[in-house]
Amino acid sequence: MSIWFNEQEKIFHLQTQNSSYVFCVVEHDALEHLYYGKKIPNDNIKHISNRQIYAHHAHESRDSRVFSASTVGLEISPFNAGDIRTPSVVYDCDGKLDCNRLRYRAHKIYKGRTPLNGLPYSRENDEAESLEILLTDDEGRIEITLTYVVYASVDVIARSQKIKNVGGMSVSIQKWSSMCLDFYGADFDMVTLNGMYLYECAGLARVPLQRGVFKNESLTGTTSHNRNPFIALCAHNADEHSGETYGFNLLYSGNFAEEVSVGSLGDTRLIMGISDTGFCWSLKAGEEFVSPETVLTYSEEGLGGMSRNFHDHIRQNIIEKEFAFSPRPIVINSWEASYFTVSEDKVLALAAQAKDCGIDTVVLDDGWFRPHDQKGLGDWRTETDKFPSGIKGLSEKIHALGLKFGLWLEPEMVNEDSELYRKHPDWILSTSKTPLISRFQYVLDLTRDEVVEYVANRISEELQGAEIDYIKWDFNRYVTEAGSYQMPQGEVYHRQMLGTYKLLSALKNRLGNMLFETCSGGGGRFDLGMLFYSPQIWTSDNTDPYARVYIQYGASYAYPVSALSCHFTRGDCTTGRPSTYDFRYRVAAFGSYGYELDLSEYSAEDKAKFKQYSEQYRKDEDLNLSGDLYRLISPRTDHFCAYMKVSKDKNKAQLTFLELNATGFVESTTIKLKGLDPNKVYKNEETGAILHGATLMNVGLRIGDLYRAKREDGEVLTFYAV
Ligand code: GLA
Repeated sequence: MSIWFNEQEKIFHLQTQNSSYVFCVVEHDALEHLYYGKKIPNDNIKHISNRQIYAHHAHESRDSRVFSASTVGLEISPFNAGDIRTPSVVYDCDGKLDCNRLRYRAHKIYKGRTPLNGLPYSRENDEAESLEILLTDDEGRIEITLTYVVYASVDVIARSQKIKNVGGMSVSIQKWSSMCLDFYGADFDMVTLNGMYLYECAGLARVPLQRGVFKNESLTGTTSHNRNPFIALCAHNADEHSGETYGFNLLYSGNFAEEVSVGSLGDTRLIMGISDTGFCWSLKAGEEFVSPETVLTYSEEGLGGMSRNFHDHIRQNIIEKEFAFSPRPIVINSWEASYFTVSEDKVLALAAQAKDCGIDTVVLDDGWFRPHDQKGLGDWRTETDKFPSGIKGLSEKIHALGLKFGLWLEPEMVNEDSELYRKHPDWILSTSKTPLISRFQYVLDLTRDEVVEYVANRISEELQGAEIDYIKWDFNRYVTEAGSYQMPQGEVYHRQMLGTYKLLSALKNRLGNMLFETCSGGGGRFDLGMLFYSPQIWTSDNTDPYARVYIQYGASYAYPVSALSCHFTRGDCTTGRPSTYDFRYRVAAFGSYGYELDLSEYSAEDKAKFKQYSEQYRKDEDLNLSGDLYRLISPRTDHFCAYMKVSKDKNKAQLTFLELNATGFVESTTIKLKGLDPNKVYKNEETGAILHGATLMNVGLRIGDLYRAKREDGEVLTFYAV
């Protein structure tokens, strides 16, 4: 059991394997948050509540001033209801804000969970347990349900909140976050993942909290290349391996906001959910609005422990079961091989060489329905001069070679130069007669069911009968003017996201149960919302392995390595920087591995090498799919980067060491391994050395001795328990 209710004290205690989350019903039927952190026994901890009296803080009771909504932790903080801190929700009934003092009415604890309608969510499993708290205003005009789902073994709690208009008035919502979380104290560092196109997640930022409000927000209609919805709060002394760390993420792929505020009493509040910028949702009588789900984790094992909790939760409970732990396709993707000059002959030429390289899936990227990026998107008509056999014929030819076939799509978009746009110029998101254009395309208005239906029909019709095993689903521009003639402006961004999820589900149903890889100009939509639909995401258009080290290392804070799609490429397409084959392989094998180059430019010897890489990847893929990641040395702070992947039973472990900027200095330092069983004896496959886990983890290895070949290749050492 993971959820307790102390009837007498009205205390709720949510317990995971290593954490406790406690709140209670207090004066005036308010919900007070008491604690989130390391697991504690089922005690009454109400003594921790702040009952000091502060001037200016308002209180409801005429007899006592000790309880004020402004000075205690809250599970939900409505604007204009006594709490003067950053509110987590803002709404009104018939234009009035007098409906915001919320009272606990009832609760429900049950095994399992209820799915979120139309939104991604952490899936049900054998251990999931749910708590729903019902709150209402005094007049009974609205009902609010706070939902907590406990995933005990992975130390994750999923939260979301719903509002229902039960009073028959018109309710307008201006902010509806997924959660409010208060901490007494502000002794935290905040960690966020920043970046930009070609540098997604690489800019890991860690700063101590300060008084004021910090907002991590995306307004691109996607989660964006620039800011990821992952956020962590950790003790100042927390590092990769120890120290209290709280991690948070959102199962959403659109505009989001996270506000971290430190108040005058030195308390910390974290609010996260859909961005409130430009948001305004009108709720008619009987309607409800549900927030996206947010996931919270706590670890005493620093940022590394936090990441491993998230990795386990994502693999076990967010990614579709049939793909999460299964070997991924080793693809050859046509994009960097031939960009828009791709043709059936070129794809078949790739296919003919693929098997020699240990590749199992040939992916036809952009260019099959258009000669360049300026026309055809939205029409989805195969260019038969380039692909005389059509997609169906090509897929059959690829299958006849014993390979699988994958295809690129960008279903949410339309080129200006397209039949679709000429016929339906109003089917795009826009706010003016001269809509802003980006990459010669517009975003289709998926708030309209007929548009979702058209796209799903057109694509499935075009691909009818084709034998497709894999889809790469792209999204290559930001939403800049989210206007729809049918919709109130403030609802468009979120309705667009709901339409996107609808389209994803529709096409998954129509095209069959295959692996979807999502993408958004590289990693512009790298989030848990997309991982609910696609087990892996193209991490970045930057395929220079030196840049990828930073991007992938950053992304691993929030996402399991198997979710990161990584390819062995020419390596120099984006930066012109040279790199060795071994280095390229080692970097790409960090995640789900594949190739993206013109195989005909490579010799038989090269291809034999590629085959070796593919085989090596397959041999070690178990560590990616189900192992634990230990980051040892960050590329951001050193001349090199090192990490380990360790199997859950601790019988296999692999150390990867990548040198980024060679200096003699590193040779005099040592590296201590992590995550091994101290009592097991390990044999190093490459050197034959036999040592205890305790020795490898405490004495470590001399870095200078790690190099068996060229320094610029990096090194991988594999350890098996003997
Ligand atoms: C995006 C993707 C690339 C490729 C191109 C095709 O940029 O990230 O991998 O698919 O689109 O237009």
